[in-house]
Amino acid sequence: MTSDPVRLGVIGLGRAFMLTLPALEADKRIRLVAACAPREESRAAFAKKFGGTTYTDMADLCGDPDVEVVYVATPHQIHADHVIAAAQSGKHVLVDKPLAISMDDGEAMIAACRNNRVHLIVGPSHSFDAPVQQARALIESGDLGKIRMIHATNFTDFLYRPRRPEELHTKVGGGVIFSQAIHQVDIVRLLAGGLATQVTATTGAWDPERPTEGAYSALLNFENGAFASLTYSGYAHFDSDEWMGWVGELGHDKDPEQYGMARKALDTALSPKAEAALKQTRTFGTAPNLEKPGHCEHFGPAIISCEHGDIRLTPDGLWIYGNRERRFIPALKLDNPRSTVIDALVEAVRSDKLPVQTGEWGLASLEVCHAILASAKSGKAIKLEKQVAVT
Ligand SMILES: NC(=O)c1ccc[n+]([C@@H]2O[C@H](COP(=O)([O-])OP(=O)(O)OC[C@H]3O[C@@H](n4cnc5c(N)ncnc54)[C@H](O)[C@@H]3O)[C@@H](O)[C@H]2O)c1
Repeated sequence: MTSDPVRLGVIGLGRAFMLTLPALEADKRIRLVAACAPREESRAAFAKKFGGTTYTDMADLCGDPDVEVVYVATPHQIHADHVIAAAQSGKHVLVDKPLAISMDDGEAMIAACRNNRVHLIVGPSHSFDAPVQQARALIESGDLGKIRMIHATNFTDFLYRPRRPEELHTKVGGGVIFSQAIHQVDIVRLLAGGLATQVTATTGAWDPERPTEGAYSALLNFENGAFASLTYSGYAHFDSDEWMGWVGELGHDKDPEQYGMARKALDTALSPKAEAALKQTRTFGTAPNLEKPGHCEHFGPAIISCEHGDIRLTPDGLWIYGNRERRFIPALKLDNPRSTVIDALVEAVRSDKLPVQTGEWGLASLEVCHAILASAKSGKAIKLEKQVAVT
């Protein structure tokens, strides 16, 4: 086994790459050696910063012998093409969430990785957040007895952040189900053991100018008897980061006086093209690097009820409310929140030790997302068939 840095090639230098970049840059176990992007500006910025090779065609990046692992950070609808090409070139893959849009694509990606004997990890996702991982370890330890119920909620302005046109159309992966529910589902599945049995849900698509689901409420049942209620609004005026000590999703302190910024900025984008251009100002090569966060990333308030106590997730750790006392467990990894993803990647590539968030895991979470949509449409509970346990 070598301890050389893992040589990473990135496809897609957009917002997702921007968000993961601070963790990649801060970690000596990773070397950024190549990137593929359609825009000259972002390719030039990458070459200037990292000195690696840049490509316009992802097949060329996949064929680059210097690349060991491909990080697929392109829009959902092309994850499948990119992951399959990487696998067929014998590269391990980190694909940003969600695994794919369709279950068929997800199955094909898993098969391609299996057939080519490469690892597939789906992330970053908030199930990698250190407090979530620590809560999982605590539940697994049995100290608080059986897990009974989870309540997870998040109120954001997600639907009013600048979007590419397809991000506002469900059929091509738009809306909060594929982009946001996938995080919440990943978190509650991890905490409850993974094996969801059925979903009952209602969704809201309340803005005809942004014709996709922006809100949902879902009830998940698990094989071990636990159940989870998930609520999300991407139309919110109230910001649930207020309940997280004014710490934003990425772990930065948030100024409550910056109220309504997303909607105000959107007022300046008068066409879908102008809105996509506004989104581009938040991507690599255009936006300044993100500042180092002072807290862990999070996905909104969550309370986990166990037999002998409750756990509350915060961006700085876990509050444990026991029978007669309460205590706080500080979060690990406050200095570099996404390093948990890098830990998983390096362990997979160097030691063949896989995290929970494999392709099969990502497919199971995707199945729940489809079930949320199907239940909202039919008004019925949807049974699940592709679930995998936390191992
Ligand atoms: N984990 C997270 O916190 C997080 C946050 C945001 C986005 N994401 C995920 O990342 C993915 C991308 O979303 P985004 O918001 O970064 O979108 P984006 O539009 O900001 O970035 C996508 C990038 O892919 C590039 N691209 C498009 N087609 C390409 C191709 N054929 N070859 C190479 N590059 C190509 C685009 O030029 C763009 O720079 C989505 O699947 C999304 O769910 C994850």
